[in-house]
Amino acid sequence: MLPTDPTKKISFTRCIKEGDLVIVYERHDCMKAVKVCQNSAFQNRFGAFKHSDWIGKPFGSMVFSNKGGFVYLLAPTPELWTLVLSHRTQILYIADISFVIMYLELVPGCLVLESGTGSGSLTTSLARAVAPTGHVYTFDFHEQRAASAREDFERTGVSSFVTVGVRDIQGQGFPDEFSGLADSIFLDLPQPWLAIPSAKKMLKQDGILCSFSPCIEQVQRSCESLRLNFTDIRTFEILLRTYEIRQWRADCGQGTGGGSAGSIRHKRKQHLIEGSGEKENPNNSTVMARPNGEARGHTGYLTFARLKCLS
Ligand SMILES: C[S@@+](CC[C@H](N)C(=O)[O-])C[C@H]1O[C@@H](n2cnc3c(N)ncnc32)[C@H](O)[C@@H]1O
Repeated sequence: MLPTDPTKKISFTRCIKEGDLVIVYERHDCMKAVKVCQNSAFQNRFGAFKHSDWIGKPFGSMVFSNKGGFVYLLAPTPELWTLVLSHRTQILYIADISFVIMYLELVPGCLVLESGTGSGSLTTSLARAVAPTGHVYTFDFHEQRAASAREDFERTGVSSFVTVGVRDIQGQGFPDEFSGLADSIFLDLPQPWLAIPSAKKMLKQDGILCSFSPCIEQVQRSCESLRLNFTDIRTFEILLRTYEIRQWRADCGQGTGGGSAGSIRHKRKQHLIEGSGEKENPNNSTVMARPNGEARGHTGYLTFARLKCLS
């Protein structure tokens, strides 16, 4: 996912090769992570797509099936990975993740401590934010979950920026070796207040902690604990509203969704409206925008706090 060239620059400009993970994109709500194997084929309702046709193509390419259908091969960025990963736990989604990255002030070179790892959804974005010179140390007390997360970080290419440890962070706290070294800490634990005293010891002066909790009672208990040693304590609930934009042809009553892959027939229908030749008749087509009815509601509360400097 984060291919690094010898100068440690992150880039997706290289071409797809055997063993790569690609996101096979049909439409925004239909995509799948696939490992490229020379002799395999990807099958969907539009036909069979030979992996051998994919090798050597740049990420973002449109590829065709034996029946003329098409999909796009996208790079497995953390944004897309979050949408396709296998859920072993509840996960953080893009709205919360982007807010966390911003408010934790993450930049390349930061050292981040995290618990629990869960399905690694957030960890993957933390890794990209601190790469190529920083590191994320993430802990989960569930051995199998930690092992699966390690495998996923390997597949997605972030493993050199992430170390997964098995540890009960509520019971034992973070390992002493990180004392005073962490730029930021993220907690997604059922009783985060139990880990806050240890988090305080791990943070650098002026370091920031974030705790994610689905229930407001958890937030209240965490804030009580944070008040002892932290300042600038703030809690947010991030609500995201997505929009559906559709173009309708008044003459045939057809609507076209935005840019989904699919069959050739579907593509032609879209072209009729989207351009190449046909003059838009404002009386014939109209654009409709409406909030998406399936937009995600409450996920949880994000509480941020900055370590007080006592000197
Ligand atoms: C909701 S999941 C975290 C999801 C993660 N933020 C993501 O985006 O994929 C919570 C994780 O915390 C772990 N956990 C719960 N109590 C723990 C503890 N005391 N120490 C370490 N991990 C713990 C669970 O095993 C679970 O995997």
